[in-house]
Amino acid sequence: MEEKLTSKELEDRYFMKAFGRDLKLVKGSGSYVWDEDGKKYLDLVAGIAVCSTGHCNPSVVEAVCSQAKELIHISNLYYVPNQGELAKKLVEISGIPGGRVFLSNSGAEANEGAIKLARIRTGRKNFVAFIDGFHGRTMASLAVTHKPAIREPFEPLEPKCKFIKYGDLQALSEAVDENTAGVFIEGIQGEAGIVPAPRGFYEGVRKICDEKGALLICDEVQSGMGRTGKWFYYQSTGVIPDIVSIAKGIASGLPMGAIVAREGLTFNPGEHGSTFAGGPLVCAAALATIKVIEENLGEVTDKGRMFMEGLKELSPRGMGLMIGIPAGEERCPKIAAICREKGVLVNCASHGTIRLVPPLTITKEEIKEAIAVIKSAFEETA
Ligand SMILES: Cc1ncc(COP(=O)(O)O)c(C=O)c1O
Repeated sequence: MEEKLTSKELEDRYFMKAFGRDLKLVKGSGSYVWDEDGKKYLDLVAGIAVCSTGHCNPSVVEAVCSQAKELIHISNLYYVPNQGELAKKLVEISGIPGGRVFLSNSGAEANEGAIKLARIRTGRKNFVAFIDGFHGRTMASLAVTHKPAIREPFEPLEPKCKFIKYGDLQALSEAVDENTAGVFIEGIQGEAGIVPAPRGFYEGVRKICDEKGALLICDEVQSGMGRTGKWFYYQSTGVIPDIVSIAKGIASGLPMGAIVAREGLTFNPGEHGSTFAGGPLVCAAALATIKVIEENLGEVTDKGRMFMEGLKELSPRGMGLMIGIPAGEERCPKIAAICREKGVLVNCASHGTIRLVPPLTITKEEIKEAIAVIKSAFEETA
């Protein structure tokens, strides 16, 4: 008789050990998910800032199901249903003049596209990025990602990248030179533990890029698609990037990334491509997602304030519904475990930070529930 293995046993035997996990979630609706034993959790992780419209948002489900009945895949050899409509929408919400879009399948891939585009259009080879910045785990996106523990085992990496202290304009000015194709920046460093840019920093970075002829590439993979209360973080500064990279919250959990680049920055035929990117299903999901975010965007700032106010004795930082609470390296996993026990999912970002990136559709009642549980978990570990 064939032996019946549990999910964990199957994974232990057949799956590469790239992830550490011990919870199986099997169902989601709105801000909640359920595990295999039927336990319900308020989900403040949201697939790591992906499920922006909540789990299985009915409008997104409807759009995906009806598209699935028409056409699932066709390749980029042909015009793809919904692709032009989505590109128009992304250019509009990005506010990038004369913008053009290239679609991909993930955040890392969006950044790969940005790297290729910057190199080919500037004719320059190198990049500058920031200490603690995260831009992905494919080889080129890893090359502009700082964290030595994940980057160094794969060296040598291309493109060459200098890493500068986040917020240090003087160091940036010295690092950017005539070989710099682009500067990669997150407005709020997500994986680093929700670290917002110092006031005036973005404007300073833009100025240096302009003076030195380097492109400003804003990585809004985590902070974009309404998470900070604007469509993109840079819209709360005076700065417009040359290229913005987008992913995570763009399609409610279907895999999609995108870059929007300003007028004059475009791939020519043959310079870039992808089999799956921007297929009919993901484009339908993204268009439906954008509509839901449009309806909820006006409340994101208030909801974020509610979190900040309710958690203020814990010194939270961030913007909108992208919030970090410093907990310390040792205490962070303990707090996350207590929250989980009490039915709230949070996760630990770098430097011992509890990260909250809930669905943008979270309700005020759910925020109250979250605050009470998080506070009690901090008290229990004090
Ligand atoms: C700012 C930022 N850029 C890029 C990425 C990579 O995105 P993906 O995991 O979809 O490749 C991430 C993922 O966490 C991110 O936070």
